[in-house]
Amino acid sequence: MPRIAYVNGRYVKHSDATVHIEDRGYQFADGVYEVCEVRHGVIVDMTRHLDRLNRSLGELRIAWPMTRSALVLVIRETLRRNHVRNGLFYLQVTRGVARRDHVFPPAGTPSSIVVTAKSTDQSAIAKKNANGIKAITVRDNRWDRVDIKSVGLLPNAMARQQAKEAGAQEAIYIDHHGMVKEGAATNVWIVDNEGNLVTRPAEHGILRGITRTTLMDVAAKLGVTIVERYFSVEEMMQAREVFITAATSICFPVVSIDGETIANGHPGSMSQKIREAFFDVAEKTAI
Ligand code: PDD
Repeated sequence: MPRIAYVNGRYVKHSDATVHIEDRGYQFADGVYEVCEVRHGVIVDMTRHLDRLNRSLGELRIAWPMTRSALVLVIRETLRRNHVRNGLFYLQVTRGVARRDHVFPPAGTPSSIVVTAKSTDQSAIAKKNANGIKAITVRDNRWDRVDIKSVGLLPNAMARQQAKEAGAQEAIYIDHHGMVKEGAATNVWIVDNEGNLVTRPAEHGILRGITRTTLMDVAAKLGVTIVERYFSVEEMMQAREVFITAATSICFPVVSIDGETIANGHPGSMSQKIREAFFDVAEKTAI
């Protein structure tokens, strides 16, 4: 069964899907994206993902490519055509096609839109949950507006590659004060000595993850206290638990950072509890 992509008004075979060579996403990384999970045949937290898309588009003054309700129809149709029950959809909106010029194209230039969908390897995810993952720390070298979910991900790609070459699966960004920011494609959490769940405030310097936001609802239901505060690399290395969250994987325990073992080197109970409770709490939309 061929994969199908939605590209600017048409459903096409994934292998034949193309965008114009002067798409501003291609030339300037002038676009934004979302990745949203599909589990047990329903879309997880779509409202929050589309709200964040709206914010990212607004911050960059890119027009919606179609109405929000039309986009929801396209997302669901793309998922249906790809028979996704457990996986994700990816959507990307760019400022459109225009003769190369740094300044914005003339008003009325249509935005470009691509939606893809794929099933994910559930056994690989289960294995990472059971064994935990390894991470490295890296100095943050990204631009200031990482609160916008921009497709300009070269530093993130470089950091993930660096992690891979070190035998790890995630790179954790550290700021100039030695404080933990977030992963290359995840938010970072620790369980501190008091048993509180701690994560960096999202006001500045990180992406406000949708999984992060829903995890706050999950913690409230479980009676776990969340503290949004800055924490240092040293505190993270001594934490009872470290884990990372993203829509692609909910949460993965981190059992080693920069080659040092975290806690007893095994996944902790908090990340497991959260993962188990997450789906019930999250918003679910039928495909
Ligand atoms: N990344 N921080 C960064 C830098 C991210 O790229 C992501 C998500 C997150 C977590 O956000 P959310 O919970 O909304 O997925 C935090 C996606 C999955 C990606 O780039 O593939």
